[in-house]
Formats: sequence, C-alpha cells, structure tokens
Amino acid sequence: VWQYSLRPRRLAEYIGQNQVKENMEVFIKAAADRKEALDHVLLFGPPGLGKTTLANIIANELNVNIRVTSGPAIERQGDLAAILTNLGDNDVLFIDEIHRLSKTVEEILYSAMEDYALDIIIGKGPSARSVRLDLPKFTLIGATTRLGAIAAPLRDRFGVQCRLEFYKPDELQFIITRAAEILGVEIAADGAEEIARRSRGTPRVANRLLKRVRDFAQVSGAAVITGRMADEALARLEVDRYGLDRNDRRILQTIVKTFGGGPVGIETIAAAVSEETDTIEDVIEPYLMQLGLLQRTPRGRIATRETYRYLGVPFPEKG
Ligand code: ADE
Repeated sequence: VWQYSLRPRRLAEYIGQNQVKENMEVFIKAAADRKEALDHVLLFGPPGLGKTTLANIIANELNVNIRVTSGPAIERQGDLAAILTNLGDNDVLFIDEIHRLSKTVEEILYSAMEDYALDIIIGKGPSARSVRLDLPKFTLIGATTRLGAIAAPLRDRFGVQCRLEFYKPDELQFIITRAAEILGVEIAADGAEEIARRSRGTPRVANRLLKRVRDFAQVSGAAVITGRMADEALARLEVDRYGLDRNDRRILQTIVKTFGGGPVGIETIAAAVSEETDTIEDVIEPYLMQLGLLQRTPRGRIATRETYRYLGVPFPEKG
C-alpha cells in the first residue's frame, strides 16, 4: 500500500528521464486532444528504472483505466482475448516482460495492435473456424529489459519506443528525499547524497537502501539520517562506494581470478557463481558495463583495466 504511494502518479512528479518525459507529454496531449487512443508504447531498459511507474502515469495522464499483466502470465490466446475484450475505449493494457510472450499469443497480438481486432480459431479439426472479434481502441504499453529479445514484427508495431537510462546521482538524491518525506523519516542532504551515490543509478535500489538505512537509524535511536549514518549502514549491508554488492564483486572476481580476465561465456560465469544467466545479463551486468568494469564481446565477457584496479589486482600487461 505505502509501496504504491512511493511511486509518483503524475508526469510532473516523475523525476529524471527528461527526454522520455518531455516527448511523452507531447504524445499524451496530442492523443487526448484528438480523443484517440495513444499509439502503442514500448519501454525498455534495465530493471528498477520506472517502466511500470511510467505506464501507470501515462494511463493516469490520459485519464483512462489501466490493466496490468505480464508476458509469462498470458499463457493462451484465450487469456489475451479475455483481457482485450474487457478493455474500455482508449484504455491502457500494460504487459510487463513482453519479451516472454509465447509465440502463439504474440501472433494474435499483431492484429490486435494494428487493426484492433482478434482473429481466433474456435474448435478443432474439420469443424474449426476462424472468427474475428472487434476490440475497443486501446494502447498497449510493453516493457522489457531486453529490446533484442523482441521479434522485429512486434517491435515495429510500437509507434513510440523509449529507452530508460540509469539516473544521475542528483536525480536519485531528489527521489530519496521525496521518498523519505512519504515514509515520514528525516534525512539530511548528505544522507540522501550518500544513498544516491550507492544506488546503482536505480530508484528501486535507492528506495530499498533508504528503508534499510532507516532501520539502522531507528534501532540506534537516531532522529535524522546523516551521511555518516548512511555510510555505516551501507557498509554493514556490504554495499561499497560504487554501489556494488557481493554479487557484483563475485562476478568480477570470477572473471579475473578464475578465468584470467576473460573472455569467458556468460553460461560459464553463471555456473561458476550459481546464478541465473538472465539475472546476470539483465540485472547485474548493465550497471557494471555502465561503470566500465565489464565488457561484452562476441567471444564472451572480459574484465577491463578498471576491473583490475577496482579489485586491487595488478593488470597483466601483455608481452
Ligand atoms: N520513485 C521511483 N522512481 C521515481 C521517479 N522517477 N521519480 C519520482 N519518484 C520515483
């Protein structure tokens, strides 16, 4: 309940992603003025950057209802048909993890997006027949952490495509200050700054760390979260000054110490650290790459000079 209220409801309250925000504002206004459904929107980028929040805000700004589901939750064509036929005019359908839709569901989604109609087969064998169901005009908002996992015919049916970027520290500081206010906890500017710097550019991480730092502050009897207190709490959580945690360090160490700095395949790394490849690729690697601590090459992952410096291991000079 409070978790929802940490999320901004209006575009004006949404911090960061300025280019996305400014463009969306225009597209929303234009569609609303024409009294039409907004074109379908594809949101992509690493997890925790506000794709779901943005989808809810778009529906709110359009003054329409939103139906929320996810790729894996829509198992059969009939599941999608049931959702689509129950939408109101110009409503938003949000499909999270849209890259995980099954092929058969994806196929009927094409005509739904393009013609606002569903062609479904009823029955089996010689008596099977195709029926066309007309749908209300609607806006599909799809979200994915992997643009590359979306088939071109699906991707091309989204008239609006937005990449969400990691947040800058000052934007995260603003988000943390706002969240602290909503949570009813006092935080000094240097406290918010410290958490912001160590939140991997990700509001979801920032809000989680804020709550844990608040726990440490509360139990130690402190009234205000200061920079020093945030630093102490984050050290106890093993979040270092770059925002990296044990999982990040384990992966970097594996590449450097076990595989000589790479190149090493993602499957090999995943097996070595007992982690899902999807989690490594979608959650862990994007921020390591942003920091310049990891490179993806066609032959596998490689450590950089920065990785060696970060781990305090001498860089192996060639020759
Ligand atoms: N909480 C999480 N993400 C946010 C954002 N982008 N703006 C404001 N508050 C947020």
